[in-house]
Amino acid sequence: MRMPNLGLTFIALPLVIQAARAAGIWCYETQDPKCGPLHWKDISKSCGGESQSPINIDRRKAHRDRNLDEISFEGYDQAPPGRWRLMNDGHTVIMSLDGTSTAEQINITKGGLEDNYRGLQFHFHWGDHNRNGSEHTIDGHRYPMELHLVHLNTKYKTLSEAKGHPNGIAVLSFLFKISGADNTNYNTIVAGLRNISRAEDYVDLASTFSLSNLLPRVDLLSKYYRYKGSLTTPGCEEVVTWTIFEEQIPISKTQLSAFVDTIYYKPVATALLKMTNNFRPLQPLNGRKIYASRDATISHGHPIAVNLLVPLLLALLACHFSGPS
Ligand SMILES: *[C@@H]1O[C@H](CO)[C@@H](O)[C@H](O)[C@H]1NC(C)=O
Ligand SMILES: *[C@@H]1O[C@H](CO)[C@@H](O)[C@H](O)[C@H]1NC(C)=O
Ligand SMILES: *[C@@H]1O[C@H](CO)[C@@H](O)[C@H](O)[C@H]1NC(C)=O
Ligand SMILES: [Zn+2]
Repeated sequence: MRMPNLGLTFIALPLVIQAARAAGIWCYETQDPKCGPLHWKDISKSCGGESQSPINIDRRKAHRDRNLDEISFEGYDQAPPGRWRLMNDGHTVIMSLDGTSTAEQINITKGGLEDNYRGLQFHFHWGDHNRNGSEHTIDGHRYPMELHLVHLNTKYKTLSEAKGHPNGIAVLSFLFKISGADNTNYNTIVAGLRNISRAEDYVDLASTFSLSNLLPRVDLLSKYYRYKGSLTTPGCEEVVTWTIFEEQIPISKTQLSAFVDTIYYKPVATALLKMTNNFRPLQPLNGRKIYASRDATISHGHPIAVNLLVPLLLALLACHFSGPS
């Protein structure tokens, strides 16, 4: 009984993989393991590269860099004129900031960035009801969701041009934490989700809003981690300056569930699957350095230093007080 099935699988599987590769189709494991992250390097060589993202931010190994001062956010505190389009692109929920007069007005500089980067789009990665779905982890801790604000170096006109340069893209990454109350600043986005259940659906939001509404308070944004990595989806180009903020964005369980329960992948054959766990697995650091901003936490989990330092300080104090007086 099983033999004919097996035979068919052996013939059909390589054909399916070849077809997917030829078309550059990629997906997450939860949609179809045949085009999941383990196969991405077959459609884009960079996905098997040495400087890939996401990574675990190990704060015990982060290097303090005092040049990593406050990022200057321009145009983040005003609602630009026009409309924003929220879309289900088959892999995520994405808001495009480009293509309107607003494109030039939302940009970031400083914070150790050598150039000016303009806002292009933002999108999310999430898990499911039982699993946290951030892409980056901090000290091995995975968070329920992650927001990526993708910016292009203003030296370059288009995304594809920027992808050809090591400093082409800067992504600001925010992790989420669960709060008891709704984060009302996310109401517009969460309400829009039901209009974009299916892949390629989009909805034009009635009004724009300040991007800063989506983020933690500005005085908490000087705490971040920085490293050089890649896009976390194919082609995985290694052109991204990553900024992972320490302060998390609160969101209620109900709001998070709206992502998990409402959004669907593009149908595979006849199966309509919910978009869940749309995050790439962690990638090896391969000797890259992670830098901590001036204000970021790095002391966390430094038992050796504390164990040596405290007795040393006590000894010094003892000397001081018992010294000549
Ligand atoms: C950055 O944004 C500000 C304010 O929105 C704008 O005045 C400025 O021209 C922008 N800079 C660039 C390089 O696009
Ligand atoms: C998932 O995130 C929640 C909220 O931040 C946290 O309490 C929980 O420990 C996380 N679970 C795992 C397995 O990391
Ligand atoms: C979004 O969906 C709701 C009901 O599900 C509908 O009332 C509303 O008109 C839709 N909005 C747009 C802009 O399509
Ligand atoms: Zn992303």
